[in-house]
Amino acid sequence: NQKTMILGIESSCDETAAAVVENGRIIRSNAVASQIDIHRRFGGVVPEVASRHHVDQITLVCEEAMEKSGVSWEDLDAIAVTQGPGLIGSLLVGVNGAKALSFAHGLPLVPVHHITGHIYANRFVQELEFPLVAMVVSGGHTELVYMKEHGSYQVVGTTRDDAAGEAFDKVARTLGLPYPGGPEIDRLAEKGKPSIHFPRAWLEEGSLDFSFSGLKSAVINYIHNEQQRGNEINEADIASSFQESVAEVLVRKTLIAAERYHAKQILVAGGVSANSKIRSEMEQAAATRSIPLIIPPLKFCTDNAAMIAASGTIGFLKGMRADLSLNGSPNLPI
Ligand code: KG4
Ligand code: ZN
Repeated sequence: NQKTMILGIESSCDETAAAVVENGRIIRSNAVASQIDIHRRFGGVVPEVASRHHVDQITLVCEEAMEKSGVSWEDLDAIAVTQGPGLIGSLLVGVNGAKALSFAHGLPLVPVHHITGHIYANRFVQELEFPLVAMVVSGGHTELVYMKEHGSYQVVGTTRDDAAGEAFDKVARTLGLPYPGGPEIDRLAEKGKPSIHFPRAWLEEGSLDFSFSGLKSAVINYIHNEQQRGNEINEADIASSFQESVAEVLVRKTLIAAERYHAKQILVAGGVSANSKIRSEMEQAAATRSIPLIIPPLKFCTDNAAMIAASGTIGFLKGMRADLSLNGSPNLPI
């Protein structure tokens, strides 16, 4: 019954993060330096700017995580780092930081896939039970993942074009809302009604894949057409109708996957799982079918390093190791 103590490092997009996690479930510290305010004025993440800020922050964030954890370097078992997917310039900062610390302290290095991190954020809420189905929805990903045991991942559905979060961000931008658009749409939708019918892309019968570019275009065209006709647009209704369309497709396909794979649990993960409509629809659908549902608290839905340490714990125990030739991998498959 020995403890496993892992330092996790995450820098795949615009959050520089480090965290110490015990036994894959107990958060000893969780430090995050967000760049959202920096990128907001550009209306999105600027890769070059992101990697420069990661360089500024990485040492401080790792020191903060170690200090607050009360864990000494000698008590760590390994360093887990996001290898990909993500922005290459951003990934490289975390990967090189992790390599330097691994070398300096003689600790094993464990590579982690970012999506598996989002999935393992659920383990802070409850112990996972297999088989399970996880819906991972973020700015860069829309994936349904089937897991038959710890550390085993099979992608059973994915987006054929835009990620769900990307659609949120682009619709928000058309409505003149600041970046990141997801939370803005969520807030705005609360004041509106889903009175406009936007399309739902179900794709072929039985398909677990997604497509959001048609919906995104439909919403953008609707806004432009109304504006051209000189009609006043009801932004809250547009946000609410758009959100309803995304939620309906995500929830229904996740439920189909859960039934097809006899899931004992449904997990929801990634930045978009912070969405209140998606959360409530998913809760209702899972309850109707009596399938236990886990959704992490908001701060563990968006990018953080505790989730990387949690997934890295499984990788560590399974013997996954990287050496000092480890590189960032922008399109890393699960
Ligand atoms: O997981 P995450 O922090 O970063 C990536 O790995 O992409 O996800 C960020 C995405 C952004 O697209 C953001 O707009 C979206 O999550 N998001 C939301 C909400 N909060 C964040 N989308 C819809 N509703 C929200 N409440
Ligand atoms: Zn993410």
